[in-house]
Amino acid sequence: MLLPALLSLLIVTVHSVDLPRLPLVPYPQHVSLLSSSSSSSSSSSALIDPLTFTFSTTSSSVLLKEVFDRYHKYLKLHDFVQKLNVTLPNLEVVIEDPDEELLLMTSENYTLTIQTNSAILQADTVFGAMRGLETFSQLVNTNNYSLPTLHIEDYPRYKFRGFMLDTSRHYLSVGVLKQLIRAASWSKLNVFHWHIVDDPSFPYCSVVYPDLCRKGAFSPHHVYSQSDVLEIILFSYKHGVIVLPELDTPGHTLSWGAALPGFLTHCPGHGNIGSDYGPIDPSNDAVYPVLKKLFTEITNVFPSEFVHLGGDEVHYGCWKSDQNLTNWMAVHNISGNYEELEDYYETRLLKIVNSLNKNYIVWEEIYTHHLDITPETIIHAWLPNWKKVFQNATSEGYRCILSACWYLNRISYGEDWQRFYKCDPRSFNVTAPYSQQQLVLGGTICMWGEYVDNTNVLHRTWPRASAPAERLWAPEYLTDVKFMEPRIEAHRCRMVRRGYPAEPTLSRGHCHVEYTWATHH
Ligand SMILES: *[C@@H]1O[C@H](CO)[C@@H](O)[C@H](O)[C@H]1NC(C)=O
Ligand SMILES: *[C@@H]1O[C@H](CO)[C@@H](O)[C@H](O)[C@H]1NC(C)=O
Ligand SMILES: *[C@@H]1O[C@H](CO)[C@@H](O)[C@H](O)[C@H]1NC(C)=O
Ligand SMILES: *[C@@H]1O[C@H](CO)[C@@H](O)[C@H](O)[C@H]1NC(C)=O
Ligand SMILES: *[C@@H]1O[C@H](CO)[C@@H](O)[C@H](O)[C@H]1NC(C)=O
Ligand SMILES: *[C@@H]1O[C@H](CO)[C@@H](O)[C@H](O)[C@H]1NC(C)=O
Ligand SMILES: *[C@@H]1O[C@H](CO)[C@@H](O)[C@H](O)[C@H]1NC(C)=O
Repeated sequence: MLLPALLSLLIVTVHSVDLPRLPLVPYPQHVSLLSSSSSSSSSSSALIDPLTFTFSTTSSSVLLKEVFDRYHKYLKLHDFVQKLNVTLPNLEVVIEDPDEELLLMTSENYTLTIQTNSAILQADTVFGAMRGLETFSQLVNTNNYSLPTLHIEDYPRYKFRGFMLDTSRHYLSVGVLKQLIRAASWSKLNVFHWHIVDDPSFPYCSVVYPDLCRKGAFSPHHVYSQSDVLEIILFSYKHGVIVLPELDTPGHTLSWGAALPGFLTHCPGHGNIGSDYGPIDPSNDAVYPVLKKLFTEITNVFPSEFVHLGGDEVHYGCWKSDQNLTNWMAVHNISGNYEELEDYYETRLLKIVNSLNKNYIVWEEIYTHHLDITPETIIHAWLPNWKKVFQNATSEGYRCILSACWYLNRISYGEDWQRFYKCDPRSFNVTAPYSQQQLVLGGTICMWGEYVDNTNVLHRTWPRASAPAERLWAPEYLTDVKFMEPRIEAHRCRMVRRGYPAEPTLSRGHCHVEYTWATHH
């Protein structure tokens, strides 16, 4: 039904060197501006009235109706300048399979066609429609409600487009987490990797071990109850974001100790962050049933297909100093090699998790230490030598995701988003280019919690995270920071307009609407 209308228009094909300057982040895969045949080369536009504009669909999806409400609100944030002659009253949204679940491989493809008098968004799933609605909302000119007439065919280059938040070193409230998740959906990210516990605190309130948060959280106010967690999962789902939980072991577990006597290795003078305790004590048989109960709970609470098992930075100093453990190793024929001890622990843990019917993601050490992982394991690289890890792991058929160049918590003076922008997870040496590169699923933008909490996490994360978010979605050839500069600034001003304290990306400039602290708190 669209075709006859399209044929009456001249389609301007655009080449990579001459892409339309549209204020979109991430930039779509394919954009063609449409110009009316009467005025040949000049581009035409559609005008909307945000107060009366409608989204329509024949789909009965309740979720889609909620998404429409969200985007209505954003449209109404635009300035009112003058009464225009509205040409476009409605966007028609057509969805192939409105009941599709939210999984990593769920289609997010969409096509968007805007003509002067009609517009249509087609997607396989509601989640694809969400991506398309975001694009539509980004196209509306904030001064005069005009949109360029165009045709967009869009889909993500990488299926795994994550952002990681650490809620152990500092607590982030449920409201702030939601703001971060909402902002992530504006940059089309689809996985929230929740590094929920670590050495400093255990804010997750487990049902099976309630003492973990009672004794391990900073305070009774710095916790996530089961209903908080479900609220986050539901909110994320409504924004097309999968929540991937991480329970990092056997290192990074100090906060578990208070609730679980005997769980950690006792090593006075050699413990983590100045304590007398180190990693989980692999020699204690009582540890494994605890892990089984906890991971069973986690895999039931979080609907994600994956669970993140951590496994990074196991410091052997504590284990080495413990004579009892050394004796135990001798009895169990584990040589003085502490990687073997780690392997013993991980092998037992992986056996437990394998029985729970979830795929898992592990930090790269689990792979580089040659631990016994299933072929389905996803390797998560974070160290500087990631290209070598990807080269090895993909040649052995493992799937990989990248964080090494996207530690946004490491701040520096200047436009550091450019450094994040230039890093591409598929830029490593391969012997079998296609098959090895296809095993790279994407990456995760990390905001570790050492120096962020509710006061600053939003503006430290956004819009800097939008640069790697574009890398993960947009075409490979789009690497020109000059092309990104005005768009990332427009994107941040859009966030400011939507009420977020997104920080400047350029050394000078202003947003038409300035952020006002008082109006949002
Ligand atoms: C709206 O249309 C009327 C009638 O065609 C025309 O006179 C007027 O100038 C238009 N207004 C604008 C803002 O384009
Ligand atoms: C999404 O679009 C891409 C590019 O056209 C295509 O390769 C992929 O198969 C599409 N996905 C689905 C689920 O149709
Ligand atoms: C709306 O404003 C933009 C610049 O802000 C301009 O390029 C465009 O032509 C305007 N559209 C209409 C229909 O006035
Ligand atoms: C080693 O084992 C002995 C006997 O079970 C126990 O008394 C001692 O506290 C243990 N040492 C450490 C450092 O845990
Ligand atoms: C350790 O090795 C010895 C000699 O090979 C063997 O007799 C013993 O059963 C082994 N112990 C364990 C716990 O595997
Ligand atoms: C990659 O594999 C080679 C050959 O097996 C090995 O020497 C090297 O240590 C591996 N590198 C990493 C980072 O795993
Ligand atoms: C990739 O291959 C090139 C050419 O052989 C080599 O110069 C470069 O060091 C390699 N890079 C890595 C990360 O191995």
